[in-house]
Amino acid sequence: MNIGFIGTGTIASAVVEGIAGDGHVIAVSKRSAAHSARLAGAFPNVTAQDNQTVVDQSDVIFVGLMAEAAGDILGALTFRADQRIVSLMAGASLAEVADMVAPATATTIMIPFPGIALGGSPFMGYGDTDLLEGLFGARNTLFALQSEAELTAYNCAQAVLSPAVRMANDAADWLGARVSDPAQGEAFLRALVGSSLMGGDCASLLAALDTPGGYNQRLRNHMTDSGMSATLAEGLNRLEREE
Ligand SMILES: NC(=O)c1ccc[n+]([C@@H]2O[C@H](COP(=O)([O-])OP(=O)(O)OC[C@H]3O[C@@H](n4cnc5c(N)ncnc54)[C@H](OP(=O)(O)O)[C@@H]3O)[C@@H](O)[C@H]2O)c1
Repeated sequence: MNIGFIGTGTIASAVVEGIAGDGHVIAVSKRSAAHSARLAGAFPNVTAQDNQTVVDQSDVIFVGLMAEAAGDILGALTFRADQRIVSLMAGASLAEVADMVAPATATTIMIPFPGIALGGSPFMGYGDTDLLEGLFGARNTLFALQSEAELTAYNCAQAVLSPAVRMANDAADWLGARVSDPAQGEAFLRALVGSSLMGGDCASLLAALDTPGGYNQRLRNHMTDSGMSATLAEGLNRLEREE
């Protein structure tokens, strides 16, 4: 497939890396000089081009711009009616992207995470999710969403990742001040939290971690009594209101 990327920043670069080994012909915006030069140097099937050349060479075009800038940048380009557009932008609806790329068709919104570069990453998709499954599904897990309202809710809820990592990091710092090998302590906590979450649903895990008077139950009760769950719900509601 001939695939283009307009905007080759952090997330678009990760997406390129994730599919660069799959035999596609890939053109990326040379504007993001460091990222585009690195990708073109690393993969023989990736070239860095000006934006219009990226569009002209591609059947499917990914947009990895900041949503606020996309209207002006895409509006200056000429698209064809046979082209499909995948937006990586969290802040633009499919209808808004469609206006920017006409007569091409804005078919899909994809919200990936940096881990897509290596595979094994979850990602969200709305619209033509068959296209995403075909390109990324073999090595990553697509969560196909039914509406843009659902996409907004997922975008808010996925932000739990950063506070969850913050909590693991704080516990690792606490542990590191008490043990001979702080790095081993952090590795242990990452392995414990990561593998436990992957092992099954949250309700079952919480039940398994509910030994009366055990370490987990006592710390969880301390934190929920201190308002942890209420604070999280408040934060998610606030993100949703600000959308
Ligand atoms: N980061 C994530 O984990 C993530 C995940 C999912 C979705 N997203 C979405 O992906 C989009 C990009 O996010 P990001 O984190 O990758 O930001 P970013 O690294 O700032 O990428 C934006 C890129 O657009 C480039 N750009 C600016 N003007 C341009 C122009 N006229 N022509 C071509 N390229 C131009 C920038 O190049 P310069 O650096 O040269 O200005 C930059 O490389 C956002 O809409 C965001 O909502 C991000």
